Amino acid sequence: MDRPVLQVEQLVRRFGEHTAVDKVSFTIRTGETYGLLGPNGAGKTTTISVIAGLLRADEGTVTLLGEPVTPARKSLIGLVPQDIALYPDLSAIENLQFFGSLQNLNGKALSARVAEVLDVVGLADRAKDRIETYSGGMKRRANIAVGLLHEPRLLILDEPTVGVDPQSRNSILEAVAELGGSGNGGPLHDALHGGGRAAV
Ligand SMILES: Nc1ncnc2c1ncn2[C@@H]1O[C@H](COP(=O)(O)OP(=O)(O)OP(=O)(O)O)[C@@H](O)[C@H]1O
Ligand SMILES: [Mg+2]
Repeated sequence: MDRPVLQVEQLVRRFGEHTAVDKVSFTIRTGETYGLLGPNGAGKTTTISVIAGLLRADEGTVTLLGEPVTPARKSLIGLVPQDIALYPDLSAIENLQFFGSLQNLNGKALSARVAEVLDVVGLADRAKDRIETYSGGMKRRANIAVGLLHEPRLLILDEPTVGVDPQSRNSILEAVAELGGSGNGGPLHDALHGGGRAAV
């Protein structure tokens, strides 16, 4: 059965009197890339935060692979935040080792996974350099690598190309397009285990 990776139905989220998300519904199936487009303040980050279990919904439902997003099921999601969340004075490898250890990865499995995701985002040759020496697009790609570490079924990217030059922007969007898309089993496909993606 083709169970959707994500199903959002009639989602409502208010902040006080203000309705930030007003009856939003959409479905993401395996292998699909789904984009949420809208002006500043449209409610994109709020929608993401509810999906990722960081904010509660006031109305409506969010189901991930047919079930609600409980704390125990949050690891099915990889969330790449709007702001770069990396330690600038650590290298990409050190950042990934650290964040991987927070996901209960360790030892050889962690080291192998870190090498894999660095390859996926095309940073293997800069892996030992400190993040502060990276260009904006490289930082974005390192941020995406963190979101891929624990092999999520759904990868959510909030504004993945903001502040990024056109060339890096294209390489990020190409990487997103390849992730899980064609089912051809390349490293980008394997990194997601055939899940869905939401680029916002
Ligand atoms: N924690 C909060 N408390 C109060 N209002 C909030 C909060 N977070 C968001 N809002 C409001 O909800 C609305 C939607 O904000 P949100 O950040 O989801 O928009 P966005 O579509 O992600 O915008 P951007 O393109 O600028 O990132 C805005 O009016 C914002 O002011
Ligand atoms: Mg936002």
